[in-house]
Amino acid sequence: MVRNWAGGRCSMSAMVWSLLGFLLFLHLYSLVSHNGGKGGENKFHSSHHPLIHELEEVEEEHIQIPSPRDKRSPRAAKRRPKRTTTLIDEFLDENSQLRHRFFPDIRSVIDPANDAGNNSLYYHPGRIWLDTEGNPIQAHGGGVLYDERSKTYYWYGEYKDGPTYHAHKKGAARVDIIGVGCYSSKDLWTWKNEGIVLAAEEANETHDLHKSNVLERPKVIYNHKTGKYVMWMHIDDANYTKAAVGIAISDSPAGPFDYLYSKRPHGFESRDMTIFKDDDGMAYLIYSSEDNSDLHVGPLTEDYLDVTHFMRRILVGQHREAPALFKHQGIYYMITSGCTGWAPNEALAHAAESVVGPWETMANPCTGGNKIFRLTTFFSQSTFIIPLTGFPGSFIFMADRWNHADLRDSRYVWLPMIVGGPANRPLDLNFGFPVWPRVSIYWHRKWRLPSIWRV
Ligand code: GAL
Repeated sequence: MVRNWAGGRCSMSAMVWSLLGFLLFLHLYSLVSHNGGKGGENKFHSSHHPLIHELEEVEEEHIQIPSPRDKRSPRAAKRRPKRTTTLIDEFLDENSQLRHRFFPDIRSVIDPANDAGNNSLYYHPGRIWLDTEGNPIQAHGGGVLYDERSKTYYWYGEYKDGPTYHAHKKGAARVDIIGVGCYSSKDLWTWKNEGIVLAAEEANETHDLHKSNVLERPKVIYNHKTGKYVMWMHIDDANYTKAAVGIAISDSPAGPFDYLYSKRPHGFESRDMTIFKDDDGMAYLIYSSEDNSDLHVGPLTEDYLDVTHFMRRILVGQHREAPALFKHQGIYYMITSGCTGWAPNEALAHAAESVVGPWETMANPCTGGNKIFRLTTFFSQSTFIIPLTGFPGSFIFMADRWNHADLRDSRYVWLPMIVGGPANRPLDLNFGFPVWPRVSIYWHRKWRLPSIWRV
């Protein structure tokens, strides 16, 4: 009896001590992970290659908003005070005095043919970027394919070198379809124009590619089984009511591509979209659907020319678009934007253990710049993510800084992106344990890939 009681007391105090120990451990752990998240705001020390650290440095932006030029009488101004101008208003105002900060002119151009020596291989997000012939690169809403056969990168995107206009009073600013531009490169900086690899249809008004329609966000993957390069794109009419995907095919990465057909995948609307090829050769279509309130994801058929019957709704009710996917250490990640047309908004990073979900929303991955830069994805919108071979966990985040007044003059924002370390916003009910590693996109006015990086 006594022994039992003593044993009971002993196990009781052991339990209390272990509980206290566990609580202390939890507290310490959450403190450590919290500080890790805070530190990530400026510089995050992860266990990557030392050269990666230079990509993780961030630059700050201090842009003063000019004082309003209010021409109203003081009485009128008193009655209805003018709303304070934000940096986003300035960005969207084509007459803003700050325009050159977002859309620097030709004097600061990135020109691989002339930028020899010290300036060579540097990315300058937002500056005009020339191809090897000296013309501004036209590959908006694009994606990059690494072609293992030719050991060459191919960048495909919307060729928008035409006038911007509104088809209707309330319609979105648009450029007639010209086609899909294609550029090739060995170093991801010097791009040779390979021409328009899928061209608009001039005559046939009923054709999907008739210039009066919309062709956006083309992406290309290679099918090992058929030996074909397959392009998927968003096909629409000028009012965005067709909401379909289009598919084209080629024997060569540099085209020409033959347009096959368009369809509404799984019978649903499809607007912003991307395709993702997994390590096992399975490919997936991810598209904004149901009035852009949800994303849908489903595998492609073996030849990549169609979707299968399987489809899952993801990020339901979150109103996300511009999806860009990548994979790291068996986990799938996605960056998306909100739905505000050509105007910039806040990016979010999501993670999942399977491409078809469930997907969990983590946080805004943008680091540096200033608060408005982070809340507007550095005044740009995601389009694609390029893995950096030889640097696991390191990527290039590709985005478009849309110039809604002159879409052909939209700029490219390429920035280093790194996966690693504790999540910066531990989710509720997880006792402070980060669920997914943090994804960080680092703002730089000027940066380059580590010099030892090779294709
Ligand atoms: C954006 C979309 C772009 C384009 C634009 C038209 O939301 O990401 O690809 O469709 O709207 O306003």
